[in-house]
Amino acid sequence: MQAKGTFSSPSLTLLPLNIPCSSSRSGSLSCYFQIKQQRKTICACVAPPLNIGSNGISKTKNNHMSKSEELHSVLEPEDDSDVLIECKDVHKSFGEKHILRGVSFKIRHGEAVGIIGPSGTGKSTILKIMAGLLTPDKGEVYIRGRKRDGLISDNEISGVRIGLVFQSAALFDSLTVRENVGFLLYESSTMPEDQISELVTETLAAVGLKGVEDRLPSELSGGMKKRVALARSIVFDASKATIEPEVLLYDEPTAGLDPIASTVVEDLIRSVHMTGEDAVGKPGKIASYVVVTHQHSTIRRAVDRLLFLHNGKVVWQGMTDEFTTSASPIVQQFASGSLDGPIKY
Ligand SMILES: Nc1ncnc2c1ncn2[C@@H]1O[C@H](COP(=O)(O)OP(=O)(O)OP(=O)(O)O)[C@@H](O)[C@H]1O
Ligand SMILES: [Mg+2]
Repeated sequence: MQAKGTFSSPSLTLLPLNIPCSSSRSGSLSCYFQIKQQRKTICACVAPPLNIGSNGISKTKNNHMSKSEELHSVLEPEDDSDVLIECKDVHKSFGEKHILRGVSFKIRHGEAVGIIGPSGTGKSTILKIMAGLLTPDKGEVYIRGRKRDGLISDNEISGVRIGLVFQSAALFDSLTVRENVGFLLYESSTMPEDQISELVTETLAAVGLKGVEDRLPSELSGGMKKRVALARSIVFDASKATIEPEVLLYDEPTAGLDPIASTVVEDLIRSVHMTGEDAVGKPGKIASYVVVTHQHSTIRRAVDRLLFLHNGKVVWQGMTDEFTTSASPIVQQFASGSLDGPIKY
């Protein structure tokens, strides 16, 4: 198998991140080795969240926020046993630019959360911090209650598998769809190649793609590339003894797609969630996900709860159906796209 021969490194385990790379094979390789240096392994067997109902969903799933509320008045559930990821007072600067100025929120087991906010406000940055690709300058990230020190590669034990689907589909241009989707498995799994190939085909079918395994990314449409990227992030290593809850972080998964292709991707995001059912009728495996988006259709269709990021902080949070009815001026301006309001460009 080409991918295996090209990138053999049995000692390494990479997270199922979709890594942006340059277009050549050597570009893919150099990107791979960059990642290799940054990341070691992520595996741990930790008890499942305590506070999970018989349907697998968090019992404390923010039902308390049934009314539109400003952030300061929102009551968090007291029981944190179902919290998978927590950002606490996270700060991040790039040079002189103080981008994140005390961001705090929790992602609970079973949740589908959207992060919205003006361009350049730090949405991609907070996703990268959650994924462990960037460290906060100040503040903490907790993974199932355990503080993460440094980058994800500095932690041998995580307890949650975190995948990031980058803003661009970020496929390896010189590898086939099969090699892209099976990349981590060819690299680090003990599964035989024909089993990996079968699994890749199954995973592609789950996102509604058939017969594209031997194509190169340049032979796919934008929407198909997004689906391949999604397949790559959900492909599951059947040889692993332990199964951790998986959180997927999507950075603008529907940007640049037409309304129908957007709907397809939004439904796919729902379908791979534990409450969903994939294209071949199997239950989804993703415990929780976070979607950064500007698109109203994605807000309505793909997420249940929203965090509004502005001026480096979460300035509003509420359920999706409150987004268009909220009295908050900043939410009203964002929802209507008005030039008048607290957000100035
Ligand atoms: N590695 C970096 N080095 C320097 N500046 C950076 C870096 N990453 C992000 N920034 C800056 O931080 C700010 C926030 O960037 P980020 O990509 O998180 O914004 P965003 O909210 O995702 O924006 P958009 O909606 O346009 O994708 C921007 O001003 C960006 O230029
Ligand atoms: Mg961004």
